[in-house]
Amino acid sequence: MTESDFWGGTFRKLWPTETEKFRDHLLRLDKETRRLRFGMPVNDQFISDYAARVGDWDSIIHAFVVNGEVRAAAELRRIGDHWSGEAEAAFSVETDYQNKGIGSELLGRVVRSARNRGIDRLYMNCLLENRKMQRVAKKFEASLQFEHGDVIGRVQPGVPTYLSIWSEAIEDGSNFMMAVLDLPKRRAA
Ligand SMILES: CC(C)(COP(=O)(O)OP(=O)(O)OC[C@H]1O[C@@H](n2cnc3c(N)ncnc32)[C@H](O)[C@@H]1OP(=O)(O)O)[C@@H](O)C(=O)NCCC(=O)NCCS
Repeated sequence: MTESDFWGGTFRKLWPTETEKFRDHLLRLDKETRRLRFGMPVNDQFISDYAARVGDWDSIIHAFVVNGEVRAAAELRRIGDHWSGEAEAAFSVETDYQNKGIGSELLGRVVRSARNRGIDRLYMNCLLENRKMQRVAKKFEASLQFEHGDVIGRVQPGVPTYLSIWSEAIEDGSNFMMAVLDLPKRRAA
């Protein structure tokens, strides 16, 4: 299967100049998906402010892109000044795209990115009732801790290998081409 065969879209990292695509995706999330993503109800202004802060070197956004639009995203954010030690991840899949394996694929990519950056503890915060996210985390052998009504999933990404670094680098190269191909669509829009 090539990447573009996957539910008619492509998995790739977003460039720092593409934060508006990430914002538009978050703005499309319905009320319940927003609440599960952010752990509380949030309005459009909150999302716009949140997305405006992303795009620096503190985070990496893995996205599922269909016809130039981000339909699902996973944010890997470092904790602390450097990429090492600990990081956190958060996921959002638009309703029509849920339950198709996209969240699991994104988590796999996040775990590999974390591993290649020397992260040995990857945290995912989710609400207690969010069984689906817990199910996805469990696929990656996350240990789940229950704290103050939330669940904290902890994954140990493992040590980088030549293969994990090489596969991410190869994908980044082809992702660059996909982003360039998206550019005329963005200009037209
Ligand atoms: C949680 C989320 C990221 C998962 O993404 P997704 O693409 O829907 O997930 P996948 O299709 O890869 O996997 C879902 C798994 O949960 C299972 N599942 C679905 N509904 C479930 C439920 N109510 N309880 C338990 N498991 C459930 C599915 O069967 C599937 O498991 P399987 O692959 O073993 O069959 C996505 O649904 C989402 O964006 N939810 C709202 C925001 C959110 O909760 N974010 C996480 C907080 S950071």
